[in-house]
Amino acid sequence: MTFPVTRLRRLRYNGVLRQMVTETKLSADDFVMPLFVVSGTKVRNHINSMPGNYQLSVDMLVEECKTIYASGVKAVLLFGIPAHKDEDGSVACEHNGIVQQAIRALKKEINELYIIADVCNCEYTTHGHCGTIIDGDVDNDTTLVTLAKQAVSLAEAGADMIAPSDMMDGRVGEIRKQLDANGYTKIPIMAYSAKYASGFYGPFREAAESAPKFGNRATYQMNPANSNEAIREVEQDILEGADIVMVKPALSYLDVIYRVKNEFNLPVAAYNVSGEFSMLKAAAEKGWIDGPRVMIEILTSIKRAGADIIITYHAVEAANILNGK
Ligand code: PBG
Repeated sequence: MTFPVTRLRRLRYNGVLRQMVTETKLSADDFVMPLFVVSGTKVRNHINSMPGNYQLSVDMLVEECKTIYASGVKAVLLFGIPAHKDEDGSVACEHNGIVQQAIRALKKEINELYIIADVCNCEYTTHGHCGTIIDGDVDNDTTLVTLAKQAVSLAEAGADMIAPSDMMDGRVGEIRKQLDANGYTKIPIMAYSAKYASGFYGPFREAAESAPKFGNRATYQMNPANSNEAIREVEQDILEGADIVMVKPALSYLDVIYRVKNEFNLPVAAYNVSGEFSMLKAAAEKGWIDGPRVMIEILTSIKRAGADIIITYHAVEAANILNGK
């Protein structure tokens, strides 16, 4: 049947009905809030390029997480900024490493909070690359050893999930093997599978103090022009034991999220990264866009594309809007 019998606007006249036929419903359950932990006490450094986000010492992180949990956001993703860095990032594996301390404190104070630990070396190496440098480039297989050690140490501290973001080949398999060998068979791996060499990470690198001191990450992160390769990356991570696969960034890669969701039947996460967050904040600050409205529209588009989990600095703000606070 065509017009005038078919009138698609019929479903749009009434607000109750519009709500009933809404296909994509965002909820605070979808969100993960990324956080940055630093050493010290009472530290709450505002990150200039990421309005409303802070580098937090463990005590302040605990307070922040109480607010986050109260908003309905029940999961956080932790990044550590250690007091000292080294050549191969092995400070990340220390029993009393910064994230390890944070996890223990959080588990003591807010046991219900779901803690995802990012696993990567870039915040821990003096050169800012995601692994050990040999002959001027990140050496894949050497890096696997430190990554797996870091993962085991974070699980030992009490992390609920491990999320490797380094993009080394074989890291999911190696991390799975070492977690299992150490008795952490129940800890899932959320792999940053299709992680692109993106300009959108700029503000994060200020926040995490992890910008590479030379070169770039093009030899390990993906070329933004490729999506068949994303499918290969995801396939490989699944074969190695990933429980959840991630596409990162989100907004310029909605097609990749959509493809991954359609080709594989496991949960897909999308990382709405720092640059995406900060662009919105900057435009809203100038009054050029309606910030909260555009935020919800963006998060909805990421879910509509196929993401089951959305990692976003907007998590609390969005949860408050969705919960009518
Ligand atoms: C570390 C890592 C990065 C991000 C998450 N994990 C930065 C990078 O790869 O340089 C970026 C997150 C964001 O921009 O919000 N490997």
